[in-house]
Amino acid sequence: MKHLLPPLPYDPAALEPHIDAHTMRLHHAGHHASYVASLNSILAEFPDLRERSALWLLLNLSKVPQKIRIAVRNNAGGHINHSMFWRAMSPGGGGAPTGPLADAIKRDFGGLTQLKARFDDAGTRLFGSGWVWLARAQRDGGRLEIRTTSGHDNPLMQHHFPLLLNDVWEHAYYLKHENRRGEYLTGWWEVVDWEEAARRFERSDHSVERDWEAEGGSLLEATT
Ligand SMILES: [Fe+2]
Repeated sequence: MKHLLPPLPYDPAALEPHIDAHTMRLHHAGHHASYVASLNSILAEFPDLRERSALWLLLNLSKVPQKIRIAVRNNAGGHINHSMFWRAMSPGGGGAPTGPLADAIKRDFGGLTQLKARFDDAGTRLFGSGWVWLARAQRDGGRLEIRTTSGHDNPLMQHHFPLLLNDVWEHAYYLKHENRRGEYLTGWWEVVDWEEAARRFERSDHSVERDWEAEGGSLLEATT
């Protein structure tokens, strides 16, 4: 079995002007593709691990041989987070969430304006390469939190279910926004797919492994 690069769910130019087509092409066909290729290459000599989903690998690093553990963490995480990231955005995105997710945002942040301010602040202050997230605690009554992760770590590794994520690696914005990460973060809300975040919120009480499989995230294909 091998891991596969999922197709972008829209044209690379579809998120203009907030994310330019050149960045999207490089990000998807360059960066994300390289994580998938590296993951397959790393696992080539480990037939048992080749049958596992990327999420299983990320959440079971203690069962991964030490000599490939860091590489698996980086590349499985990169594959998972980017697969989720493409789907977190839409050409018809922006606006505001509705329904139970909107209620939870009001309860835990006071409203969408406050959530955005805290998300942007966390993303701006994150040192180096990483991700900023809206996540739901799998404990503590399921409250919503803004979190950041370094490298390609995922909140699932910290018992938080991801609802929304933004990539603050420089490769996500530098060609267009240069060093103005804050400008990228604030503009990005115009392409956020709140319907996808709401779907993730509704699934956030369930098995994470099943969710990943259900959304096509395992992206495994028989090699024969
Ligand atoms: Fe990225």
